[in-house]
Amino acid sequence: MCGIVAYIGHREAYPVVLKGLKRLEYRGYDSAGVALLNGGKLKVYKKKGKVAEMEEYAMGKDVKSHIAIAHTRWATHGEPSDRNAHPHLSGDGKLAMVHNGIIENYMQLKQELLNKGHQFSSDTDTEVLIHFIQEIKQSNDCSTEEAVRIALKRVVGAYVIVIVDEDNPGTLIAARKGSPLVIGVGKGEHFLASDASPIVEYTKEVVYVNDYEIAILRADELILKNISNEIQTPYIQKLDIELAAIEKGGYDHFMLKEVFEQPQTIFDSLRGRLDAKSGTLTLGGLREHLDTLAAARRIIIVACGTSWHAGLVAEYIIEELCRIPVEVEYASEFRYRNPVVGKGDVIIAVSQSGETADTLVAMESAKEKGAIILGVCNVVGSSIARLSNGGVYTHAGPEIGVASTKAFTAQLAVLAMIALKIAQAKGSITEQRFQHLLDELHDVSEKVATALLLNDQVKVIAEKYKDARDFLYLGRGYNFPIALEGALKLKEISYIHAEGYPAAEMKHGPIALVDENLPVVFVATKDSYYEKIVSNIQEIKARKGKVIAITTEGDAMIPSMADDVIVVPEADELVAPIISVIPLQLLAYHIGVSKGFDVDKPRNLAKSVTVE
Ligand code: G6P
Repeated sequence: MCGIVAYIGHREAYPVVLKGLKRLEYRGYDSAGVALLNGGKLKVYKKKGKVAEMEEYAMGKDVKSHIAIAHTRWATHGEPSDRNAHPHLSGDGKLAMVHNGIIENYMQLKQELLNKGHQFSSDTDTEVLIHFIQEIKQSNDCSTEEAVRIALKRVVGAYVIVIVDEDNPGTLIAARKGSPLVIGVGKGEHFLASDASPIVEYTKEVVYVNDYEIAILRADELILKNISNEIQTPYIQKLDIELAAIEKGGYDHFMLKEVFEQPQTIFDSLRGRLDAKSGTLTLGGLREHLDTLAAARRIIIVACGTSWHAGLVAEYIIEELCRIPVEVEYASEFRYRNPVVGKGDVIIAVSQSGETADTLVAMESAKEKGAIILGVCNVVGSSIARLSNGGVYTHAGPEIGVASTKAFTAQLAVLAMIALKIAQAKGSITEQRFQHLLDELHDVSEKVATALLLNDQVKVIAEKYKDARDFLYLGRGYNFPIALEGALKLKEISYIHAEGYPAAEMKHGPIALVDENLPVVFVATKDSYYEKIVSNIQEIKARKGKVIAITTEGDAMIPSMADDVIVVPEADELVAPIISVIPLQLLAYHIGVSKGFDVDKPRNLAKSVTVE
C-alpha cells in the first residue's frame, strides 16, 4: 500500500527511482511523484494516475540528480489528485517527504500547526507530518535528523518516511514503524524501497529496517539509529530473488505468468520438505513448536483476503486430520473484538506479503495474551515473519499481480503440510493415510499443470459469460472456500459482482437471484459431498440458472446437467482445492482481459495493505 523508492549515489537517480516505481506500482497507482535535488534546489514532479503519467509529465524537464525520493500512492487521506500526490514539501519548501502508512493523530497536529500559521496545499496526513518536522527543526534550531526523531515520538500510527533536505544535499533520512522498508547497500550508493524489487538488479545486499529505527544514508555511509538516538548495527542480508522473477517474461500480464508458474511454485513450496519416497515431511520452522501444536487447545488462523480463504481450507484439513478445533478469523475483526485468547492457543497468521497491517496487529495482540504465533508467509524477512515464533515460508517467489494466485496455492500446500505434521506428532493419523496424502501432495504440481491446459477452453467460456451482471460461486466442504476465492478473483479484476456461498446455504437467500441470466459456477469435484452438490445443481437448473461446473475426470452425471463443464484431474479431497481453483483463476483473468481492464492493477486495490 503505497510504494516508496529512493536513491543516493554515483548514478543518475531519476531513472533508478522511476524504474523502481514501476516495479512497486502493484502497491498503489492513484498517483506518482518524485523529488530530487537539481542544481542544489528541490524539484518535485508529481501527477495523478499511474507512474507512466508522471513519467510523461516529467519528460523533457530537468531531472539530473544523484539523490531522489519517489512514491506511488494508494489514497487514504484525500482523493487521488495532483495536489495530494507525494512527495510533499515543508512550509519553507526545503524538505520533501514521501510516506507510506497513516498518521492517526494528524488532525490534532494539523490544528496545532494551523494555529502557528502553517498553510497546507493538500488534504494529506503526510504534508502535516513534514510541516511538523520543519516546525520542530526551526523552533528547536536542530538538525533535520533530530527533528524527525522528536516528531516521530509524537506520531500515532504507521509509517515509512523518506526525506530529502535541500540544506543537506548529501543525505537521505528514513524511518519506519509498521510499514516495510528495505535498504540496498551498493558500492558508493544506497537504495531505499518498500520491498526489494527495485533494488535487486543493482545489489543483493540488503538491510531490513526495524520498527522505530531511523536510517541516515549517504552515498558511502549507512547509519542506523533507534528512536532514542542509539547507534544500531545494520544486519546485512543476501537477497535470494532473481530479476527474472519480477519481470513478465513474455506473458501479457503478471497475473497470467503467475497462474502459469503454479506447477513450479507448488513444487518449490514442497521442495526439501516433503519426500514421498521416504515417507518423510520436514518443516524446520515448526520443529520447536510441534509439541505445543499437538497439544494445542485450539488453533486460530488470522488472515485477510485470499489468505483468509487459504485459512478456511486449512480449517477443514486440520480439524479432519488433527482433531483440534480451528477458528478462522478476519484479522481486522479478531483484533478489535477483544477475543478470548490465552495459553494453549496457537495462532497461525497467513499472509502473502507478510506486511498486512490488520494481520500484524492481530498477531501482536494475541502475542500479548500469551498465545504462540506461527507465520505462513511468502515474503522472506517480512514483518509478519519476523514477529512470528516460528512458521513456514511458502516460497512462491515474488507475486506482482494484485490478485493473488500462486501465493494462494502455495499457502494451501504449506497449510496441508502443517496439518499433516501436527497429525503425525499427535498420532491422529494412520501411517497409511499419512503416506497417501504425501503422495497426493507430491503429485499435485503435475495435476495443476494438466489443469492449466484448460486455458483455451476457459477463455471461450469467459467470452460467453463476460457480460453477465452477477455471478454466483458455490461449493461444499473443501471446495467451499474455493467458491469464495473464485468469486473474489472475479470481483477483483472484472468488477462483476460475484458472491461465493456454501452450495447448500444458497437455498437460504441467494437462490432468489437465480434466473436465466445468472451464471452459477459450481466447484463440484468428486469428493464426499458429491451427491449433495449434484442436488444443488439440480435446484439451480430447475430455476433456469446457467451452470458452469468444475468437475473431475470420469464424472458423467454433472456434465449431463451443466451448461458448461471444465474437467480437472482427480485428487484426494484434501488436496483437490489446489487444482479446482486453477480454472477459476483463469476464468476471472479472461473475463477481466476481455472487458479491457488492467488485470494486474485493478482499480482501487493494492497488493500490500499496510493500513488498518
Ligand atoms: C490485499 C490483496 C489480496 C490479499 C490481501 C491479504 O487485499 O489485494 O490479494 O489476499 O491483501 O494480503 P496478504 O499479503 O496478507 O496475504
